[in-house]
Amino acid sequence: MIELRIALSCLALSLILNLVVTAGEFFKPFNVTYDHRALIIDGKRRILISAGIHYPRATPQMWPDIISKSKEGGANAVQTYVFWSAHEPVRGQYNFEGRNDIVKFVKLVGSSGLYLHLRIGPYVCAEWNFGGFPVWLRDIPGIEFRTDNKPFKDEMQRFVKKIVDLMREEMLFSWQGGPVIMLQIENEYGNIEGSFGQKGKNYVKWAANMALGLGASVPWVMCRQVDAPENIIDACNGYYCDSFWPNSHNKPKLWTENWDGWYTKWGGRLPHRPAEDIAFAVARFYQREGSFQNYYMYFGGTNFGRTSGGPNYITSYDYDAPLDEYGILRQPKWGHLKDLHAAIMLCEPALVAVDSPKYIKLGPKQEAHVYSENAHIRAESTNESSNIGSCAAFLANIDEHKAASVSLFGRTYTLPPWSVSILPDCRNTAFNTAKVGAQISVKSTEYSVSSPDISPLQKTMIQDKVFPIPETWMIYQEQLGAWNNDSFTVSGLLEHLNVTKDKSDYLWYITRISVSKEDISFWEKNSVKPMLTIDSMRDLVYVFVNGKLAGSTFGHWVKVEQPLLLVEGHNDIILLSETTGLQNYGAFYEKDGAGFKGQIKLTGLLNGDIDISASLWTYQVGLKGESLQIYTTEGNEKANWTNLTPEAIPSTFSWYKAYFGPPVGNDPVALNLRSMGKGQVWVNGHHLGRYWTLVAPKTGCQEVCDYRGAYDSEKCTTNCGKPTQIWYHIPRSWLKPSNNLLVIFEETGGNPFEISILSYSTKTICAKVSESHYPPLHMWSHPDIVEGRVSITGIAPEMQLQCDKGHIISSIEFASYGTPKGNCQKLVKGNCHAPDTLSVVSQACNGKNSCSIKIANSIFGVDPCHGVLKTLAVEAKCSPNTITLESSVSDL
Ligand code: GAL
Repeated sequence: MIELRIALSCLALSLILNLVVTAGEFFKPFNVTYDHRALIIDGKRRILISAGIHYPRATPQMWPDIISKSKEGGANAVQTYVFWSAHEPVRGQYNFEGRNDIVKFVKLVGSSGLYLHLRIGPYVCAEWNFGGFPVWLRDIPGIEFRTDNKPFKDEMQRFVKKIVDLMREEMLFSWQGGPVIMLQIENEYGNIEGSFGQKGKNYVKWAANMALGLGASVPWVMCRQVDAPENIIDACNGYYCDSFWPNSHNKPKLWTENWDGWYTKWGGRLPHRPAEDIAFAVARFYQREGSFQNYYMYFGGTNFGRTSGGPNYITSYDYDAPLDEYGILRQPKWGHLKDLHAAIMLCEPALVAVDSPKYIKLGPKQEAHVYSENAHIRAESTNESSNIGSCAAFLANIDEHKAASVSLFGRTYTLPPWSVSILPDCRNTAFNTAKVGAQISVKSTEYSVSSPDISPLQKTMIQDKVFPIPETWMIYQEQLGAWNNDSFTVSGLLEHLNVTKDKSDYLWYITRISVSKEDISFWEKNSVKPMLTIDSMRDLVYVFVNGKLAGSTFGHWVKVEQPLLLVEGHNDIILLSETTGLQNYGAFYEKDGAGFKGQIKLTGLLNGDIDISASLWTYQVGLKGESLQIYTTEGNEKANWTNLTPEAIPSTFSWYKAYFGPPVGNDPVALNLRSMGKGQVWVNGHHLGRYWTLVAPKTGCQEVCDYRGAYDSEKCTTNCGKPTQIWYHIPRSWLKPSNNLLVIFEETGGNPFEISILSYSTKTICAKVSESHYPPLHMWSHPDIVEGRVSITGIAPEMQLQCDKGHIISSIEFASYGTPKGNCQKLVKGNCHAPDTLSVVSQACNGKNSCSIKIANSIFGVDPCHGVLKTLAVEAKCSPNTITLESSVSDL
């Protein structure tokens, strides 16, 4: 009954939320301005921590959970780009539905009490197809992207205005009671401005004035734009931004993109950025007067369909973000940053109270910044209550190798290498960026990163429960070459995008060549083969001769040299040109095009080479299966499917389909395509994306990832020698209780009978917290501490354990309070161990979604080794909470 009541009250709550969402008033209307220190929101300087989330990279059903996990993780703002190509796929025809329902997304952010930074661009880069520009833009006569070019500026202005007007109509600006506090025009234009000379400079001024003229009445940002005009804030993007300063003393120090991970390509390694290093970068930023920082990405998500940019960016946009591709917490990253955010926000009153901090050099590579109107007096005061909120200090040790002992206001602090300690009262450390107290989680993906002892082992494994796709597979063989009468023949080579308009990855080029008897005998006599050469090609070409695949080449503007087996007389040559995500970065990228450049020749002939570029070529856009939409429930009936047996799997260019029931429960679902080659995949007509089992280089991964020292995307990589991506996200909301249609287009050959799905969740959690760890951050705002009745130093640290939503701690696999050793899934007791640890932890945690345990002798009933620093280490299993489900059913 209780469950039912909860369910009903949740329903009521969501109805109320919906009403609020429709009304569009989330806050009392407020103005946003800024000074050199911070954004000023409703008259107050604010410290802002923003979560980068791109709405089309998740489903609307996932948004509320992602936003609430961002808030729980300590974000008070969300940032997103606006994806023009998604909103205006055809010029003048807009799409604001489903994953493109930006208004709904912004309203959800507002109803969660978070602010929003909307980066309209409309150039966004973002590893998004064509950098976010619709591909039709390149067809506008006389257009040149991102420069002082009228056709481009007209289109850009029209779209930016459309979005600003939409936000205004929906009452989403702060002064209307909405969450939008800041906008962005362009994106990192400074990186390429030089390529455009004076026209580039003019364009910057034009873009700024155009944006300001739209009447949005909130601040506008340009990132990486040192020459941003006076009334636009120039912001920093990068792995570290503490040494960045805006181009005017009237502007605050903002960090629009803190790269907390990185993207990857097909055949690439997987990059990981250690939690300790991101925390260090963030703490350094706020230490050195930063006031807004956005995680790029907080949730990366998925490049569904053909949205991934490139060339060759993978379908997953996981980004090693604090929330993983499926929206599940990535631990210890999420938890460690949550602690960091809590510590920073404790400092907020002090941080914004002064115009600039007091700088104190503590050592050759150590420094403090103290935020207080009168740092000395406050820090030395004996009144415990006076400093919280009025004096905050950040102590940094930027030495990559050695810990340092430093003193500030008569107290001594030990700082691990490459770390920052945060002192919200200028006396006691609340947090150190190199000391991770957060739990680790082990989930259903496939990489493993181990760190030196100072950092916990982070390891993941394949989840035990895998569901094979049970049903029979059917096959439909794609037709090679022209399959429809909309194919056409012209003499000469046409540029790929000019023909496909990017409606499909695929373009067939078909021609016929004639070979003489003399040529054949010449080849036979000399044991040589003729060659088809293409001067330059991107991204992928398959070459067929007389209906048989001769070979393929993959690369970015690479030369193709394909040996051919030709017969006397006519030979039909088919080239399948493919794109795998359009360019999204660089000056003049709209001119890059795709497909072939230069000449296509037949070489090694008796009478010399023949240039076949000017021959008659027949063109066919896309696949027959695509045009029939055989991946949809209706469309798949139109194809001639036949049963497939494991013995008769063809090697290339086949469509496969099967029906499957999803794994039980509500957890996200992942599809394992390890047994396949390259292609695209759909579930119930939803395009999951491209897949490819291209393998990462065998070398270049690090056994141990040391968080110390400057990070770059090559520093902590995993997955060497393995396919870059084998798991593909099927959002739960795309699934039905049974009979889900899975359709795959496979180009190179693979075994569909080995495809499986699994429900994805955190299976194992581990944590290690010692007696010397910091008191729980929430205790700092306890009235007894705030009012000085109790000193924060007297409060014991705590271990927090948490399973995913809908899951409970089902068993404690290991627990030892004493001197346990080892890392997650390899924990062992040390010489010192409190015998009751397992029962104490089991009692506190079993059957619960989350629990916390104080790290103190009294909790474990004994001091197992007096005078020795003790640690609690726990490993627990998480399982779906079936009890709630069952009891609520029996209650009914
Ligand atoms: C930035 C760009 C982002 C994204 C990022 C790399 O330079 O502004 O949109 O592409 O790089 O993930």
